[in-house]
Amino acid sequence: MSQRTALVTGGTGGIGTAIVRYLSRQGHRVATNYRDAARAEEWRKRMAAEGIEVCLVPGDVADPASAEAMVRAVEAKCGPVEILVNNAGITRDTTFHKMTYQQWTDVVNTNLNACFNVTRPVIEGMRARKWGRIVQISSINGQKGQYGQANYAAAKAGMHGFTISLAQENARFGITVNTVSPGYVATDMVMAVPEEVREKIVAQIPVGRLGKPEEIAHAVAFFTTDEASWITGANLAINGGHYMGW
Ligand code: CAA
Repeated sequence: MSQRTALVTGGTGGIGTAIVRYLSRQGHRVATNYRDAARAEEWRKRMAAEGIEVCLVPGDVADPASAEAMVRAVEAKCGPVEILVNNAGITRDTTFHKMTYQQWTDVVNTNLNACFNVTRPVIEGMRARKWGRIVQISSINGQKGQYGQANYAAAKAGMHGFTISLAQENARFGITVNTVSPGYVATDMVMAVPEEVREKIVAQIPVGRLGKPEEIAHAVAFFTTDEASWITGANLAINGGHYMGW
């Protein structure tokens, strides 16, 4: 299998860490960004203890200038970005009638506008080299909506609109663009949902449990292979059967 340079945004988080680990173990050079240097250093040490060396660069995906600087730093350290996983994401859950403009824009900037901010600086290089893999990490809640997540569901649904447009524009340049839509996975983000609410949600999952981060990473890695070159514009739902819309 070809070894590539991969940038996974938000790679120090729950699903992000699993994606970084999976791609690294496949032999790719993997980079990610951080905003908190001390926390990132702790994380780097834990990964190094597993034998995984990650190219860590500072960068805020919600800020266009910072995101571009982040991409250029990755290129300088590890070479051109050939695989991009737009994974960084946050929640600011509250019912819409109580939602502030800040809660709306924070979520839209970090989850959706980040796709512009990070992908724009890498796309021209991918087109010139005639090879690229871009994967958006969306959410089940972008597909079905969720009480308390008008901001998040709007941003996550928007990510797939981004995917299917980019897929069309770049198909002839050897670039595939796909979405993975995880359901409720055992990460800090999901564990922050109040326990009684979370228990009711888990009861709706036919498989009967939360997902594991590595179950998401496995699908992301699949989309990044050479063999997946005819899969573009797809949305792969991985949610234990929680939502089966097609
Ligand atoms: N459908 C209908 N009614 C619901 C409901 C639902 N799904 N969820 C809550 N309600 C009702 C409650 O029963 C309650 O009704 P009563 O007042 O009649 O008892 C009422 O709504 C509570 O409304 P409030 O506005 O007062 O709610 P709150 O401020 O207490 O909390 C909330 C609202 C923050 C949205 C909370 O319910 C919550 O955290 N929900 C979970 C949201 C969620 O799933 N987030 C996912 C985070 S993980 C993630 O995002 C990763 C991913 O991609 C999957």
